[in-house]
Amino acid sequence: MRLDDRFEDLLGSLRGFYRTWYVFTGLELGLFDALRDAGTAGLTAAELAARTGVEPALAGRWAWGADAFDLVETADGRIRVLGDVGTVLLDADRPEFLGGQFQFAAVGSLDYDRLPDVFRTGRPALARPDRYRVAIERLTVQDVAVFFQEVLGALPQIVADLRSGARVIDVHSGGGRWLIAMARRFPGLALTGIEFEPDSVARALANIAEAGLAGEIGVEQGSMLAIGHVAEADLVYFQYALHQLPDPVGTLRSAWAAVRPGGWLVALDWYLPTAPDELRSAHGELIAGVQLDEVVQGTRLVTATEALGWFAAAGLPRPELVDLPSGASAIVVHLG
Ligand SMILES: C[S@@+](CC[C@H](N)C(=O)[O-])C[C@H]1O[C@@H](n2cnc3c(N)ncnc32)[C@H](O)[C@@H]1O
Repeated sequence: MRLDDRFEDLLGSLRGFYRTWYVFTGLELGLFDALRDAGTAGLTAAELAARTGVEPALAGRWAWGADAFDLVETADGRIRVLGDVGTVLLDADRPEFLGGQFQFAAVGSLDYDRLPDVFRTGRPALARPDRYRVAIERLTVQDVAVFFQEVLGALPQIVADLRSGARVIDVHSGGGRWLIAMARRFPGLALTGIEFEPDSVARALANIAEAGLAGEIGVEQGSMLAIGHVAEADLVYFQYALHQLPDPVGTLRSAWAAVRPGGWLVALDWYLPTAPDELRSAHGELIAGVQLDEVVQGTRLVTATEALGWFAAAGLPRPELVDLPSGASAIVVHLG
């Protein structure tokens, strides 16, 4: 690459860093929401400030910067959010949704001052703060969309098996967003979340109560290894969790024991690409970014081959690996 081109290339990364913070600020403060609600009429900076509680002069400065970063358009003193920007940043039920990824990248990076030390010593920074798990809950909103639009599309038999009364366990269920979405999509399911982190259990219970679904969804605190469900579930599900667990093989064994005849075990996750072309792609860069996040806390993304190895080591029947259009993959086992 010519030096000028390399300069532009690296400069692009710096611009991306600042752009991320304009996006994060706009999401956190509801600026994008307010602008989208205003439609093509747009808002003045004063109106934007009044609707979001932002200090008026700073609302104007945010809009100026967001315009520089091609997120909004300002003309005749009125600010409008670009339609496609609103879709990608705000529409949480679409697989293209990136709002949660921006929030995760910004909040997670607050801990990256520890990275040099972790790389030097090989010792992870121990616990992440609660704000991190709140960001994870936003990040995995995208996984919920991927599950409904891609996993269920690829596995219609699961949809047929999720009749009213079917029992579903979400292993390490975080803030409970998948459970809530399942209760809405398939009324009459008996849904249980198992969650290890006390603050995530508390958030899940609050989210479930707010959704009016406390009667349909229970949450048990602990590790799947310690909570002994046996031959009772029609679907046992892992969402973006298996790779973070200290004992994935043991957890898979416990999870498989919870599946009843005719039932399913599905693990949705994002795997490290192995082919050079896949690695040196936008998807590869994103996965490399997430891997950096895992380094901080001493967990790691793995390749699909390594994950399949966990299933074999746990003694499960040969799983099916389903690669999905979003770049995520589902590993699926059916107890026939
Ligand atoms: C990235 S979160 C995913 C949460 C949820 N499934 C979602 O999609 O939002 C990973 C999960 O791994 C679990 N986990 C992390 N470390 C763990 C540990 N040491 N023991 C048991 N579970 C752990 C957490 O409880 C957390 O729910």
